[in-house]
Amino acid sequence: MVCLGNICRSPLAEGIMADKCKSLPVDVDSAGTAAYHVGNAPDPRSQHIARINNIEIQEQKARALKSSDLNEFDAIYVMDKSNYENTIKLAENEAQKRKVYMILNASKPGSNEDVPDPYYGGDHGFKLVFDLLDEACEIIKNQLETELNG
Ligand code: 4NP
Repeated sequence: MVCLGNICRSPLAEGIMADKCKSLPVDVDSAGTAAYHVGNAPDPRSQHIARINNIEIQEQKARALKSSDLNEFDAIYVMDKSNYENTIKLAENEAQKRKVYMILNASKPGSNEDVPDPYYGGDHGFKLVFDLLDEACEIIKNQLETELNG
């Protein structure tokens, strides 16, 4: 799960996806395309919206996306078009580029919609982000279950 700072959107995406995939053999992680917040815990507003949905993300620490992530992980879900461009720049071949998905295309196929950056807004933005990510992650989890069982 990839966003810009790895303190607002992608920590929530990681927490939501990890919660949904508890019974699946799946490793979920997150990172940011920028390094401003490396080592920091998720934004308190992300922690709050997660907690009221029974998901704990406080132990996460921000890290920067690295090119080896595109090798190590089978799928990279980015939050917005800017993250997409920055992630694709790290790819070393076409196979790695094909692993990069706009996360809301899971719930809104072909739309290329962004998960809006909530950093400069209020709590409402974090609820919207949570709801968008919950919907997309549910679909991704169902796809994974089908792949793993098929
Ligand atoms: P995120 O949000 O990419 O969802 O973690 C942001 C966090 C920090 C900044 C921008 C967006 N920033 O400019 O510091």
